[in-house]
Amino acid sequence: MLNRPERFDADSAREQWDYNAEGWNHAQREGLDHYRTGLHGPALVDFAGDVDGKKLLDLGCGEGYFSRQMAEQGASVIGVDLSPQQLDNARALEAEKPLGIEYRETNASDLAEEFGEESFDIVTACMSLMDMPEPERAISAAASILRPGGRFIFNITHPCFQTPYREWHRDSDGNKIALKVGDYFKSGPIELNFVAVSHLYDMKTTQYHATLTQWFHWITNAGLIVHDIHEPRPTEEAIRGHPALADAEMVAYFISFDARKP
Ligand SMILES: C[S@@+](CC[C@H](N)C(=O)[O-])C[C@H]1O[C@@H](n2cnc3c(N)ncnc32)[C@H](O)[C@@H]1O
Repeated sequence: MLNRPERFDADSAREQWDYNAEGWNHAQREGLDHYRTGLHGPALVDFAGDVDGKKLLDLGCGEGYFSRQMAEQGASVIGVDLSPQQLDNARALEAEKPLGIEYRETNASDLAEEFGEESFDIVTACMSLMDMPEPERAISAAASILRPGGRFIFNITHPCFQTPYREWHRDSDGNKIALKVGDYFKSGPIELNFVAVSHLYDMKTTQYHATLTQWFHWITNAGLIVHDIHEPRPTEEAIRGHPALADAEMVAYFISFDARKP
């Protein structure tokens, strides 16, 4: 059973991600986050399709992983996050290896005030929306800064399998054979341990668990149309490189959305 944190707001999210920044940076820069490098990261780049020449905002950009991916595909990128420490790491790499990315400290809820309505062709959010205290407001803010015809491309941990109760069922040798899930309909913040990702220190993240239906309605209530979804699976080559990724063949860990503004 995952913990239910007492508090989840912009200040607590900022504190948590400032604290996590060093470990997160280490994990990403050293390629230790295999579920990203071997699974959801390349899948989201493919899913985003042609971004060349587009004005793109990357929401909850962290140390800039997906902002860089999009800049390398030819987009003109602004990355925003509420954690100054995460942004310091993003800016440091931009100074070292410039891709023309601008990073700004902004709360997702304030996008329209900061950038103006209908000012971007594409908004992306890689593994960040479920880490926000108010995902519904963030989706609505993302929709408001998109031009008509614009796309909101994001991925999240899969709400059907990243549930408040979650436990692997194992065989007598300890091999994972199935995932037990529960409390799916109990929406709200849950706390996850992230120690395995960086090996530097214990990191905790707080996520807002919501049902798939809630996510769907948050998107459509923001005036967007769900054009496509994708549940990434690891390639055989990725599993050969990192055998632990095989468990991502048993259940969908992640889901990506392509939501469009009419
Ligand atoms: C799991 S990290 C993902 C970072 C990056 N997108 C990546 O793929 O590596 C989630 C990020 O969301 C940011 N975040 C959480 N709440 C936010 C909010 N309300 N506004 C902007 N960023 C937020 C955190 O600071 C953190 O950097």
